[in-house]
Amino acid sequence: MSKVLIIYCHPNPKSFNHAVYGRLESELKKSHEVRTRDLYALKFNPVLDGQDLGELQAGKVSADIAAEQAEILWADRLAFVYPLWWFGRPALLKGYIDRVLSYGFAFEYGPNGGRGLLHHKKALVLMTTGTPEVILGTAQNALPTSMRDGTLKFCGIQEVLWKSFDGVIAVSDADRHAMLDEIPALAKTLVS
Ligand SMILES: Cc1cc2nc3c(=O)[nH]c(=O)nc-3n(C[C@H](O)[C@H](O)[C@H](O)COP(=O)(O)O)c2cc1C
Repeated sequence: MSKVLIIYCHPNPKSFNHAVYGRLESELKKSHEVRTRDLYALKFNPVLDGQDLGELQAGKVSADIAAEQAEILWADRLAFVYPLWWFGRPALLKGYIDRVLSYGFAFEYGPNGGRGLLHHKKALVLMTTGTPEVILGTAQNALPTSMRDGTLKFCGIQEVLWKSFDGVIAVSDADRHAMLDEIPALAKTLVS
């Protein structure tokens, strides 16, 4: 049995993105322990300010960061569900990463540069986009870079599964259901 932490970041509980999250959670819960951090529902403060930086540099973390780090330490798998906003992550998710995946917790620097400290065996990223795959073209090759490579792999998670559900605004309901039906196999790979 795996322990999976889902970090979910979309403001609308009626969105397709929420349906993606819901399907992933219900699938995993059939045989695994699952916890969710719903960043909008939590009203998580995403601003890494001067006080935070000063505390982090002094080796301290504020209570809200410590609570999120404890959730991450509880899990052996991480999953992220969010929409593509301005070719990147929503600001709330970016700010969560800025504050929670802090120096000394998620990574450190040594003579050879950054060294990841996260112990998780695997991570899964499920993203929705407004632009169809055919229009994204080669630009889609750049999409995983900041989250998969610059964040999760940098922090030590070697295996990062990545799935983008593209053009979800314009596709038919049947297409959307077919996308949701891809989630059980992705969940299975995450926990295998
Ligand atoms: C602020 C904002 C920025 C967005 N930026 C992009 C973008 O850069 N590329 C893209 O394909 N879609 C973009 N979209 C569309 C969202 O990705 C799309 O609405 C979402 O993935 C659809 O899922 P939902 O219906 O569950 O929200 C943006 C939407 C918003 C609200």
